[in-house]
Amino acid sequence: MTTSQDSALDSASEQENILIWKADTALEERRDAGLEGLVGGLDSVIIATETDHLVPAVYELLRYTGLACTEAFFDNDSQSYVLSVPGSASLIVRSREGSNPFAGTNKARLTQPLPNTRLETFVFSTTDIKEYVAIQKRRGIQFLTPEPIVSDYFSFIQTAPSPYTGNSIGFIEWQDEMQTYAPAGATTVSPDITKPAYRHLKNISKLDHAATRVKAQDRTAAILEFLSLTNYHYDFGVHVKSQNSITSVARRNKEDFAMVFTSGITPYTSDEASGPTEKFIRNYGTRVHHMAFQTEWIEETVTQLKKEGMEFLLELVGSEADGLKQIFSDPSKHTLIVNEYIHRYGNFDGFFTRNNVEMLTEATAKQ
Ligand SMILES: [Fe+2]
Repeated sequence: MTTSQDSALDSASEQENILIWKADTALEERRDAGLEGLVGGLDSVIIATETDHLVPAVYELLRYTGLACTEAFFDNDSQSYVLSVPGSASLIVRSREGSNPFAGTNKARLTQPLPNTRLETFVFSTTDIKEYVAIQKRRGIQFLTPEPIVSDYFSFIQTAPSPYTGNSIGFIEWQDEMQTYAPAGATTVSPDITKPAYRHLKNISKLDHAATRVKAQDRTAAILEFLSLTNYHYDFGVHVKSQNSITSVARRNKEDFAMVFTSGITPYTSDEASGPTEKFIRNYGTRVHHMAFQTEWIEETVTQLKKEGMEFLLELVGSEADGLKQIFSDPSKHTLIVNEYIHRYGNFDGFFTRNNVEMLTEATAKQ
């Protein structure tokens, strides 16, 4: 006898098979278009804040992660800080005046006080930006500028915000090696925000993954769009039926930054019925929910972060026997982003465990 639960599971696995097939096709199309190998790993992430939240946002990241401020610059309508830690993509935290291409996508039930605040752009390195842009324009990709923006050290371009994630994907070609993110005409200044000298911050290192929340009905399109723009492949999805949530992972290789998409299994109907993932989107729009940082000595580090005032959505989940431990902070009042701290033990060859994903997702209902 077939129960309704069986048929829901059948439909989920059928959806998954369709996604896997479409993802393979997207990779073939990417190869045929001549894009293979043109895009490298994650270079940096651009986070926009309101002008009066910029310094508090930067200070908070210095205080609660391993990142240090390596550059500061401004021009007529924007101010930026670059935060870096060896072996990691950098964070470029900025505020800007004037028109905002992300304004529409930022609007949601709870975001009125922070209309310009968002993790806007994931920037990937490329070895040939001209060739990349020419190919993608032929494939119909829309960029925010007609041509790459050129400085003495790099060329940069970014896509228009995605209709599925609200995020932009950027591309940077460094002339030589990485020098400065300051665009042509910007004034570079010595960073005026000091990182606290806490020893436990040395335990927190590279950006491991970031998770974007997308609507159930846009999950496949969001993943395929990302694959078509980068050199990533779809790796796997964890379905958590109790939370109406799927966590999907795209990767380039095992060591690299992973791009995570979290969506409902079924589309939003009501806050009560739809689970924390779809509710988050109603409240905050489609956007990056958290940035995860690799963390050594995670128990002690989290204890110290708590002493320094950081608040968390739940206690550490997982164990050494499970292969990993993770925890979510409360969302930042300055960026709206949650920090995840993650530690994978020695031989753990998975990326997530189902049980951790379920508990972490459940905790986000508090947001
Ligand atoms: Fe995560």
